[in-house]
Amino acid sequence: MANNHLTSESKQLATWYFTFAAILFGAQLLFGLVAAIQYVMPGFLFEIIDFSIARILHINALVVWMVFAMFGSVYWLLPDETGIETVGIKIGKLLFWIFAAAIVVVVLVYLLVQVGPADETTIWFITEGREYIEAPRWADFGIVVVALGFVGNLFLTGMKGKQTGIVTVLMADMIAFSGLYLAGMFFTDNISVDQYWWWWVIHLWVEATWEVFVGAIAAYGLITMLGAHRKTVEMWLWIEVSMLFGSGILGMGHHYFWIGTPEYWWEIGALFSALEPLPLVAMFIHVLYDWGKTQGEQNAQGKDVSVINNKPAFTWFVLNAFGNFLGAGIWGFFHTLPQVNLYTHGTQFTSAHGHLAFFGAYATILIGMMYMGIQGSNGIKVMKNTKASIWAVSLITSGVVGMTVSLTIAGYVQVLVSRAQMGATWAAYFDGQSGMWFTQAMDWRLFMGAVTFAGFLFLIKDFLSTGKDAQHEH
Ligand code: HEM
Ligand code: HEM
Ligand SMILES: [Fe+2]
Repeated sequence: MANNHLTSESKQLATWYFTFAAILFGAQLLFGLVAAIQYVMPGFLFEIIDFSIARILHINALVVWMVFAMFGSVYWLLPDETGIETVGIKIGKLLFWIFAAAIVVVVLVYLLVQVGPADETTIWFITEGREYIEAPRWADFGIVVVALGFVGNLFLTGMKGKQTGIVTVLMADMIAFSGLYLAGMFFTDNISVDQYWWWWVIHLWVEATWEVFVGAIAAYGLITMLGAHRKTVEMWLWIEVSMLFGSGILGMGHHYFWIGTPEYWWEIGALFSALEPLPLVAMFIHVLYDWGKTQGEQNAQGKDVSVINNKPAFTWFVLNAFGNFLGAGIWGFFHTLPQVNLYTHGTQFTSAHGHLAFFGAYATILIGMMYMGIQGSNGIKVMKNTKASIWAVSLITSGVVGMTVSLTIAGYVQVLVSRAQMGATWAAYFDGQSGMWFTQAMDWRLFMGAVTFAGFLFLIKDFLSTGKDAQHEH
């Protein structure tokens, strides 16, 4: 990403974060493909990159690229919102390199060392073995330092410059987001206790703090790309924030059904997690409403203000509204009641929801922010779609939706055969997995994964060629 048109150092730092995020996104997809091939051909890369390693790399790269892109998004919008350069930007830049170097080392250790003895040295130097946040403890401490620096930058800038509603929400949210990471850093011998705290990170990230972040970013996007009125947008933002925290925090109960926690979590989890789709509906309506409202509106000079100044970014933002609602709201609601979850727990259905939710709620809007970075770095006033940007969004979206459908079918087979008919025995597990519907679904998932990856290649091509593209007005 060329930085020649950026005058703000904060925005420059944002483009570094976006670039590293895009590279990790590619790594995520590659290891996802390896794992998907192994479902179809179990011997693939046997003892070189086993399924467990491919899976670790796939889902940790996912989380880390999203965190990078989220930090980047904050550094991108801070100067616009506060009206000043980010305070402590030099330290921010240094921390970026520390963060990036730590991640590279962690990935190399996953690839080259892979496993260690069953004692503390493995937790400290190889992996903590907690799904999604598997980084070894030395890296945890590095991440805490980087997060503290980032939150410090955000607070000092917010306090010195103009403090909009968006910045205020982000300040509160980023403290909670970073603080929750601590809950995944200590080790207990009791697996129930361990899982209990681990969900504080995973669930309270994706269903509370990250969703609030998305609300703030969507608000920023509506103001910058559509010229929506700040008063309306920020009013919605506050409503969404209160609804998200209201349902998302106790909604955590839907992960406490079967891990050895007290049974009152059934009622709490059922009630509050069932309410979780509501804020997602609100976010969905909010984006479409603001979009609709600006159609045909004219400013004092008679100029149409509904002209969207960044088409590719806006496309991804609208997809976010749909994807968040579908992936998290609908696919999440499907299995959130304990009566249903008893059958679906830990099946491919969970994976279907995981893919569509992470993609719909986060990948989409973060790719949108990357497009804002591309627009700014190249000094483009009105950014149009290109052939590559259209191929990218079409292939990535249809690929992920295709994977989701395949996984949903596979999950249905597991629910029916392994759980309902055969009663969740060891034999039932294998019967469910060897049936025709299941194996064909796994073939389709692999194919749709390849489609997703092809879309990613178009996305990178578009990022890299935008500056040279004559289609764009400067
Ligand atoms: C963007 C927001 C969301 C993301 C990224 C997300 C992602 C995920 C992921 C990755 C898992 C699998 C966790 C594991 O490995 O065990 C999961 C599980 C689950 N999610 Fe979500 N989710 C989101 C929102 C929701 C919502 C709103 C609901 C309910 C309305 C929901 C209901 C569930 C349930 C019940 C499970 C447990 C599945 C099982 O028992 O196997 N999720 N989610
Ligand atoms: C090239 C495309 C992709 C392929 C082939 C792929 C494949 C896979 C495979 C094989 C697994 C392991 C499932 C298991 O343990 O049974 C997995 C897990 C996962 N993937 Fe992907 N994936 C791809 C893209 C994505 C994308 C775009 C996202 C989200 C933005 C994503 C999010 C996840 C999540 C959250 C899990 C953990 C699910 C769970 O444990 O329930 N993947 N993926
Ligand atoms: Fe959850």
